[in-house]
This record gives sequence, C-alpha cells and structure tokens, in this order.
Amino acid sequence: MRAVLCREWGPPESLVIEERPSPEPGKDEVVISVKAANVSFANVLAIAGKHQKQQERPFSPGGEVAGVIKAVGEGVSAFKPGDAVVGLGKQGGCAEEVIAPVASLRRIPAGVDFKVAVASGSSYSTSLYALRERGRLQPGETLLVLGASGGVGLAAVELGKLMGARVIACASTQEKLDLCQRYGADELINYQTGNLRDEIKRLTGDRGVDVVYDPVGGQYADPAMRSMAWGGRYLVVGFATGEIPKIPLNLALLKGASIVGVWIGGLQARAPATNSRLLDELMAMVQAGTLRPCVSAAYPLDRTADALNDLKNRKVTGKIVITP
Ligand SMILES: NC(=O)c1ccc[n+]([C@@H]2O[C@H](COP(=O)([O-])OP(=O)(O)OC[C@H]3O[C@@H](n4cnc5c(N)ncnc54)[C@H](OP(=O)(O)O)[C@@H]3O)[C@@H](O)[C@H]2O)c1
Repeated sequence: MRAVLCREWGPPESLVIEERPSPEPGKDEVVISVKAANVSFANVLAIAGKHQKQQERPFSPGGEVAGVIKAVGEGVSAFKPGDAVVGLGKQGGCAEEVIAPVASLRRIPAGVDFKVAVASGSSYSTSLYALRERGRLQPGETLLVLGASGGVGLAAVELGKLMGARVIACASTQEKLDLCQRYGADELINYQTGNLRDEIKRLTGDRGVDVVYDPVGGQYADPAMRSMAWGGRYLVVGFATGEIPKIPLNLALLKGASIVGVWIGGLQARAPATNSRLLDELMAMVQAGTLRPCVSAAYPLDRTADALNDLKNRKVTGKIVITP
C-alpha cells in the first residue's frame, strides 16, 4: 500500500510517497482501507517540525480517516470487515491503509459520504468543545470568529449560529466572507482590508463581543481582545498566522474577561469519553442534516503536497480532504 511520509522536516514538497507493507491489526485494532483523510493547517506545522507536539519521523501527515474496515485484530467483536467507519489512526491518515484502535471508531450512518464524515470530525469537535464547554456561549450573545472560513472557523460559525448567538465572521477575502454568510454569519468583517477594532465597534457599539474564537493569533488578537464585552471569554484555539500573540493581562482585569485555552488533543487524551460523546453528537447532527460540513476540495494521495500548500497559502475554504 502507498503512504505519504515525512522523513525530513520541511515544506509540503519535501514529503515522499512510498510503497509500504500492508499493516497488520493488533489487539483491539482494525485496518481501515482509507477513502478520505482529514488534512488541516496543523499538518503543515507538523511536517515543518513546528507543531507544539512534535512527532517522531517518519510519519504520515493527516488526521482522522473515513473508510471501510479491511481486517480486524484479536478481541474486536463490535466491527467486521466491510463496515464503513470513521476513526483516528495510530499513524497519520495520508495512506491507503491505516491501523486504528477500536476505541476511536464510529460507524458512518447510511447516506453520509466518507468525505463529509471525516470533515465533521475534529474541526467540529474542537469548535463545539470550545464554544459550549470552554466558552459557555449563550443564546443572544455575540460571537466573533477569526479565520472564520477555515476548517475550525467555519465550524464555529455554523455551531455558534445553531447555539443562538449573533455571529460576526472575520476573513481576508469577500469570497471567504460570502461562504461564512452561507453558513449562518450575521455580520462580516474583512480584517485584511478593514480595521478590525473599528469594524467591531461599528457592529457592537461600546458593548463589544461576548466570546472571541481565535484560531489565527498574530496581529488580530490584540484588537479582538480590546473589543470584548464585560465578562467576555477569549478562546485560544490556534495560531495560523504563525505568530503567538502576547496579550497585556490588564485587559483581562479591566473587562472581567477570561482567556481560555482550547485543545482537542488534550481532551482526546484526558477525557476520551467526553470527546466520543461530542463526535457522536456531531455525527447525529450531520445525519439529520442540521450540520452541513463544507468539503471544498478532494485531492488524490499523490497531490497531498498541493493540498498542504493550499492550506499554507490561505487558499482553502472549509475543509479539504485526501482521497487515497
Ligand atoms: N486547539 C485545538 O484543539 C485545535 C484544533 C484544530 C486546529 N487548531 C489550530 O487552529 C488553526 C486553524 O486550523 P484550521 O484547520 O482551521 O486551518 P485552516 O483551515 O487553514 O484555516 C486557517 C485560517 O486562518 C486564516 N489565516 C490567517 N493568517 C494565515 C496564515 N498566515 N496562514 C494560513 N492561514 C491564515 C485563514 O483565513 P483568512 O485568509 O481569512 O485569514 C484560514 O482560513 C491552526 O493553527 C490549527 O493548528 C487547533
């Protein structure tokens, strides 16, 4: 089977594709024949050796996978070969076959596409966990989403709207903002051409926003923090700009505000049952048609580098997937 591998830290074009032996499932594991694999900005950081949690090389980039079970290991009774599942592999998803622990698997309901199943995973669970559990977003509150047309950002727009918030989406182009509007954003700010602080003030007056969802960091964090309402919650999700901002703590004091970290990897490791419940809830919403994860493009395995370059160059909207 073919797998994309990161052997040396570097840009996407330094990835190699190699023929590898088919993996054998161990106890409580299955082998999934991959139909769609999640890729995200975090993979760009991971292959460059810049992710906060560094992996041992060689490794395949990519997150969770959706596909069909090819083989089951000892002790596996709940799943059988041929079952359509989504799960988190022991290694990255950009490969034709991946080993996944049974504990990470959920069934893909009839009628849900492999690409959509994979797109509704960690991007949505990150945003649901962030807004509901960490940010305690309430109906009628104002939610500001930075990087709003990206993988986690668009999920936050869609979920924030479903939770009854007034959603202000921020992105760098009109095309990206139009997508946010289709996913429920009430107000739009182009933070590339406009002044973020002035625009938030125009939309919220002196009150400001209750919750900030920030997956980008960099130069946008300071004006967003200064635009918060009394008692606001600033959700630290990621740093797609590549710059970890430094926030003056007096702002938190003056606004009675909380700066709240969000890390879905930490939740997966420390509270797997909670993480599992979030994923079940999201899959049920996808099946019911309440959520419509946006898969804007699918790339074959040998174009994984192009997919990661598109993420790196801010060319992606919603989710993109690899389809081995
Ligand atoms: N905390 C967690 O548990 C968690 C979970 C998932 C992801 N993350 C992190 O969240 C961040 C976003 O992930 P994602 O999957 O949503 O990525 P994505 O799909 O690539 O979206 C990132 C967004 O950031 C904006 N951006 C601003 N400056 C950028 C730059 N210099 N390069 C690239 N994008 C830039 C882009 O929108 P504009 O062009 O409109 O600005 C883009 O839509 C990443 O840092 C990732 O590691 C964290």
